[in-house]
Amino acid sequence: MSTPLISVQDLNVEIKTNRGLLKAIRGVSFDINGGDSIGIVGESGSGKSITLKAILGLLPNNAHVSSGKIFVAGTDISTLDKKARRALLSETAGMIFQDAIAALNPVITVGDQIAEVPRFRLGQSKSESRQTALKLMEQVGISDAESRFGLYPHQLSGGLRQRIAIAIALSGSPKILFCDEPTTALDVTIQAQVLRLLLELRKNSGLGIVFVTHDLAVVNEICDSIKVMYAGRFVEAGNVHTTFSTPTHPYTYSLLKAAPDPDEAVHRLFSISGEAPNLTAPVVGCPFAPRCFAADDHCLTAEPALLSIATSASACFKSSGHDTWAASDSKSGVK
Ligand SMILES: Nc1ncnc2c1ncn2[C@@H]1O[C@H](COP(=O)(O)OP(=O)(O)OP(=O)(O)O)[C@@H](O)[C@H]1O
Ligand SMILES: [Mg+2]
Repeated sequence: MSTPLISVQDLNVEIKTNRGLLKAIRGVSFDINGGDSIGIVGESGSGKSITLKAILGLLPNNAHVSSGKIFVAGTDISTLDKKARRALLSETAGMIFQDAIAALNPVITVGDQIAEVPRFRLGQSKSESRQTALKLMEQVGISDAESRFGLYPHQLSGGLRQRIAIAIALSGSPKILFCDEPTTALDVTIQAQVLRLLLELRKNSGLGIVFVTHDLAVVNEICDSIKVMYAGRFVEAGNVHTTFSTPTHPYTYSLLKAAPDPDEAVHRLFSISGEAPNLTAPVVGCPFAPRCFAADDHCLTAEPALLSIATSASACFKSSGHDTWAASDSKSGVK
């Protein structure tokens, strides 16, 4: 088997908070290959953004990787100095965050912002980097790139600014694009345009996509595989269609039940009654057990590992009974 572009192995991240040490990520493992499209879903606070930030070396100052390894193109990044790590990461991965639009520099023209990495990191001349930027603007569907190159962010619409952010993320020619809720702040029509663009990039250039979202319909639309995150761990992983048709973790089952019809134009955020555990305290038992319709006493005493079942993986002692859940979920508490 070829080396994955990125391999995350048993990642643990701790964050110092004023409530104590938070075990935000607890044993996350996964591989990312070129052309993959992986959706990561889970409630607010489950650890989706911190997982991406740990991979990209962008953890906040109060957070650190307490154990586990991240390999980029086969190299353990903890063995590299900061400069080498940044160089390796930037040629492998680009990123767009939720506040990508706000992160644009208001006093530099959008063209120069896209040309920055080609010029100063890839060593292109001024005119070469301008050509690269114009090409990227066209690639992300910005018409009339020549005349828009010299505009400032505030002179463009929200949709165009989001495309600029994507062009910047692609400007180092990454093999994988990490997207952390990049469409949440956009209106539905622009969201659809951005998703279409990402699908095209994947099809035409084999770009791998890791897409964090609250929106299961978006995962359904653009991802092949899904990781469901709960309390700092992946609790279910598998092919999107299989997972959506036969979820093997009660949390996934409840999320899907709480989700609106994927075809509905307006997607609301899912909500399941109860709260996720406080991860500053030790985890005893399955962290989802207090909210779970299938839990029994055993679930309150031991935390299940993420184990393979057929082509999926599930961290649930009860996953073998998943075909009977529809009949037994009356206490699932889905609102
Ligand atoms: N800078 C920080 N300081 C303290 N705690 C933090 C910090 N950033 C994240 N956390 C905590 O780490 C946990 C994981 O946060 P993370 O941002 O990864 O959640 P998320 O799954 O991305 O949620 P959302 O869907 O709301 O974006 C949460 O409990 C959060 O409160
Ligand atoms: Mg987040």
